[in-house]
Amino acid sequence: MLANVHNTLAWQAEKRGVTVAIDAEDGLPPVIGDGDELTQVFLNLVDNAIKYGDAEGTVSVEARQVAEAQAAGWMAGKDGAVAVSVVDRGAGIPREHLPRLTERFYRVDKARSRELGGTGLGLAIVKHIVNRHRGALAIDSTPGEGSTFTVYLQPAPVAEDAALKAAAQPAGDTASGRADEPSEIPVTKS
Ligand SMILES: Nc1ncnc2c1ncn2[C@@H]1O[C@H](COP(=O)(O)OP(=O)(O)O)[C@@H](O)[C@H]1O
Ligand SMILES: [Mg+2]
Repeated sequence: MLANVHNTLAWQAEKRGVTVAIDAEDGLPPVIGDGDELTQVFLNLVDNAIKYGDAEGTVSVEARQVAEAQAAGWMAGKDGAVAVSVVDRGAGIPREHLPRLTERFYRVDKARSRELGGTGLGLAIVKHIVNRHRGALAIDSTPGEGSTFTVYLQPAPVAEDAALKAAAQPAGDTASGRADEPSEIPVTKS
């Protein structure tokens, strides 16, 4: 999916001389969600990083699993979270703007944003989709250094949990596709 985002924005990045680097940790668990909507989230964030980041600079997209994650009013569940950060080395965003950044039509520098194109809706949409996925968006920015937008998403239940649930189901409910799974799954009854 991130590669897809990369391809879609390749032309735009090239125009500004920006390199987009994607770095996804090995063995990331799948996340629960709508692929099209999540693609929109990262399209918006990478688009912003290209637009408002440094021309001729690098935008990094880093995906990793974290054991604990906290964002305003949100905390990861017991399986932790998949965190995807979009990092740019642009002008950054003065702190006083951060709380309002995801409001519809909110722009830090209206003239500059108008010149760069865009609707001012991108981050509002990002926030909406991330909320619908019961995830979180964290914005971290230092004026003069750049910005990091991190999306936290719920990982799909780990295989062990799924196996325990499958084992707990009445035998008749077991899908035939599971026949190749080991039959001696240890089941702990509580
Ligand atoms: N990576 C970033 N660096 C600096 N400012 C940003 C960044 N991303 C978003 N912004 C600021 O947040 C505003 C809102 O972003 P967004 O909702 O995507 O609207 P748009 O990109 O259409 O202007 C932008 O106009 C810009 O001022
Ligand atoms: Mg935008």
